Amino acid sequence: MRSLFVCFTLTVIGITAPILAAQKIDLLIDGSKTGAKVDRNIFGQFAEHLGHGIYEGIWVGPDSKIPNTRGIRNDVVGALRAIKVPNVRWPGGCFADEYHWRKGIGPQRSVTLNPNWGGVTEANTFGTHEFMDFIDQIGAEAYVSVNVGSGTPQEAAEWLEYMTAAAPTTLAKERAANGHPAPYKVALLGIGNESWDCGGNMTADYYVSQMKIYSRFVRNFNPSQQEKQQMLKLAVGPGGDGPRWTDWTETVMKAYQQHTWSWDINGLSMHNYTVGHWPPSYASVGFGETEYSEILKSTLEMEGLISKHSAIMDKYDPDKKVALVVDEWGGWYAPLQGSNPGFLVQQNSLRDAILAALNLNIFARHADRVRGANIAQMINVLQAMIITDKEKMVLTPTYYVFKMYVPFQNATFVPVTFDAGWYTHGAVAVPRVDAIAAKDANGKLWLELTNLDPNEPVEIEAGLAGITAKAASGETLTAPKVDSVNTFDAPDTVMPRPISAKVQGGKLTLKLGPKSVTVVSVEQ
Ligand code: AHR
Repeated sequence: MRSLFVCFTLTVIGITAPILAAQKIDLLIDGSKTGAKVDRNIFGQFAEHLGHGIYEGIWVGPDSKIPNTRGIRNDVVGALRAIKVPNVRWPGGCFADEYHWRKGIGPQRSVTLNPNWGGVTEANTFGTHEFMDFIDQIGAEAYVSVNVGSGTPQEAAEWLEYMTAAAPTTLAKERAANGHPAPYKVALLGIGNESWDCGGNMTADYYVSQMKIYSRFVRNFNPSQQEKQQMLKLAVGPGGDGPRWTDWTETVMKAYQQHTWSWDINGLSMHNYTVGHWPPSYASVGFGETEYSEILKSTLEMEGLISKHSAIMDKYDPDKKVALVVDEWGGWYAPLQGSNPGFLVQQNSLRDAILAALNLNIFARHADRVRGANIAQMINVLQAMIITDKEKMVLTPTYYVFKMYVPFQNATFVPVTFDAGWYTHGAVAVPRVDAIAAKDANGKLWLELTNLDPNEPVEIEAGLAGITAKAASGETLTAPKVDSVNTFDAPDTVMPRPISAKVQGGKLTLKLGPKSVTVVSVEQ
């Protein structure tokens, strides 16, 4: 039996010699061999000051007719609570390297510009306190990216002191005067964003010298984060394939290997979008099987990229102390007609649900190294969970995948082996089926199965080694077309629905519809 890993390797290196697809697929789930913990932070979100991601998507202001709590939309908060968002990365993105936090605190906010994203004005009404209030309302942790490109170590250090100091420093008192006497927690700190490009077009060596300074001086003073729950510092990492990016990872990790008592990093960021071609030209709706299959092939390149950069990290950090954090990922397509191209507005289809499942499965398979990821972006931007228009809100197919995957948060990886054959279309060949399994804290087994084939169902027969199964139940997400979407008028086109699964003679059997994402739990 060939492992799924082999299937992926063949795809990545471009061998297109598909084996005839079997309609019935045998899987083996070995519950006696558990792997790494699937860190819940791989389900992280990203909210940049970009288009309507923050303003309108989260923030409507306390005087809005849209129901809100201290200016933050209640409908959006309710939806995000249901998917148990572990952390939100903010304020960017490219925006982070032009963000000056002082403009976003206190009663008087400066109006600035957002040159990266449409050149619009930035009211700064959503600043530090509003972000912290928002993540508190949705039950998530803060992942704050500090400005390395156009800021200073002093500015970033003072921001962290402002947010986290409990002692009565002038900055802590200012925070209290602005309404929050208790120190905030900052779980994750991003030291710059894409410093090789929009973050200052630095060389790797120059970035490393900056990274050391920021790592040393940008301190978290929250007393509850000194021993336990220490803030994790994430360095800028690679942004693609090729020598430019492997050299970058080498340089940062080599520096890490030689780090002294005075500075440290706990993670290396990686950005990898599914674009197809640059600039983004694939349509997000109104496409057919060709674009569907091409985008899925392209998204599976995540596997090779993670393997490549993990291998470099292993050389300098064999104990895997430094996490690889894919803190920008997702589909990036042509802007919707009539939208501001700087706002990165696109639709979200069944294809995106499948794309999300495939990437989450890749992260889970690399759980020993990939301990964080942030899909781009949470609301109204790129591959969003939620789309809003004034008082209206719709949940996207991607949102439902994140909801279906909640049981995988902090679950323990369980290996699955199978030979699924291939789904082919024109020159594209991708594995017909993808699958992961994990055990939750109560020992319950969860299985995710994605049928990439948009035309044929598959029969799954799963052997359950080391598991005494009694019953199984689950949900499946599919829709009539590969580009089916949810709209304000038809919000339920792509959403999970119950699926029947049988357990008999130690085997789990179920039928996966074409182009579907399915999550099943097994009662023991
Ligand atoms: O997510 C949109 C942009 O993509 C981010 O601002 C930047 O980091 C990346 O290039």
